[in-house]
Amino acid sequence: MRRYHVTTFGCQMNAHDSERIKGMLESLGLGETAAPEAADVLVFNTCTIREKPDTRLAAYLGNAAAWKRERPDLVVAVGGCYAEAQQERIFELYPFVDVAFGPGSIPHLGDWIAAGGYAVPQGRFGAHEHFAADLPMHRERNFQAWVQVSMGCNSACAYCIVPAVRGREQSRRPGEIVAEVTRLAREGVREVTLLGQNVNSYRDPLSGLDSAGLLREVSAVDGLPWLRFLTSHPKDFPEGLGEVMSGRPNICRQLHLPLQSGSDAVLKRMKRGTTRERYLEIVSSLRRRMPEIALSTDVIVGFPGETERDFEDTLDLLRTVRFAGIFSFRYSPRPLTMAAGLADDVPLPEKQRRLAAVQEIQKTIQIEANARRVGQVEEVLCLGRGKKTPQLFWGRNEGNLVVNFSSTVDRAGKFVTVKITGSGPYSLRGEEISP
Ligand code: 5AD
Ligand code: SF4
Repeated sequence: MRRYHVTTFGCQMNAHDSERIKGMLESLGLGETAAPEAADVLVFNTCTIREKPDTRLAAYLGNAAAWKRERPDLVVAVGGCYAEAQQERIFELYPFVDVAFGPGSIPHLGDWIAAGGYAVPQGRFGAHEHFAADLPMHRERNFQAWVQVSMGCNSACAYCIVPAVRGREQSRRPGEIVAEVTRLAREGVREVTLLGQNVNSYRDPLSGLDSAGLLREVSAVDGLPWLRFLTSHPKDFPEGLGEVMSGRPNICRQLHLPLQSGSDAVLKRMKRGTTRERYLEIVSSLRRRMPEIALSTDVIVGFPGETERDFEDTLDLLRTVRFAGIFSFRYSPRPLTMAAGLADDVPLPEKQRRLAAVQEIQKTIQIEANARRVGQVEEVLCLGRGKKTPQLFWGRNEGNLVVNFSSTVDRAGKFVTVKITGSGPYSLRGEEISP
């Protein structure tokens, strides 16, 4: 049997695309191998959001090139956002690559690889034509699923390459989404995450249903204990969303709401279409309804023109909101973005200092917040045995926080009642309470 290996970089959307890529390769009769060096078809599903992934990819592709010198029939395919951004240049940079494809051309991948890969005319990129929802899918876990609600992005954030590589936003019909979630719930899936680059700008082209309405419809599906959605954008956050969330016990009290900067001047230059004040309003209205909601955000430090004062505003915002978690990044200029035309004027050591300061403050906040959970009892969706600590199990609570816990039985895919006995900045520790 011919074997494939897929290496995935980047966000959940990419991970979800990889499920389709894998499903498609399996429908061609290939089997998965965990060892890339043993594969006959190597796929790299790439990301280009920040500089670092590009360099990491180069290292991976170096290995692929060496294997291909030994085994010329190895098929090397490079897909995803970096491939889309580079287009034909992929073949100049990496001449041993057989197939290159963007996120919009996954439906064609089967034909290209089936044709042998090397027989495929190099340099074909499909348009972002339609949802690939009907493609076969290989899910990593049978109790967790992503469901795509939209593709592409119509925002114009100055730093972000996503609109350039994932195309214009298109919302999927609500009936299709509800049908997919219903089927998943019947199959026993415990947690569904609705995915879109910006789920808040979801709008059904025919009925005008918005993201709050969609969430109302999806959360009415029977037999689905946990529903999440990702990623939200404060500029499009609909009025009714907090009400829907608080009214439905199966919508997790958890929200990732990227702000990027606490400074209005920076937000304006980033073209985020929102302000610090508006953001804080959303946060307080959500917390009024759901005091326990776990909020997380993304922060970029060192965006062009970010002064010390601007940066202090970001630190101040972190102290004000006290997020349950953040993802923080150094700004890196990306091709095809508006900000690429601005001078990248915050020196690297200064960006590093700011990033470290952000992470330090946030770590302290999380240590305090998590310590307060010790002694509490939490519902945890068990995700399996710990990777580093196989004697423990791990899972996530409703707020999406990692909980490592002891248990006498492997309850992967089950909800477990856990008494919290310890905490750290990024996880909780606990023990299962016998039911
Ligand atoms: N530089 C640094 N971080 C970036 N992000 C997006 N583009 C860039 C960039 N050019 C971050 C944002 C976004 C997250 C997915 O990645 O914080 O929310
Ligand atoms: Fe995801 Fe953006 Fe990376 Fe593409 S570039 S994989 S959309 S994070």
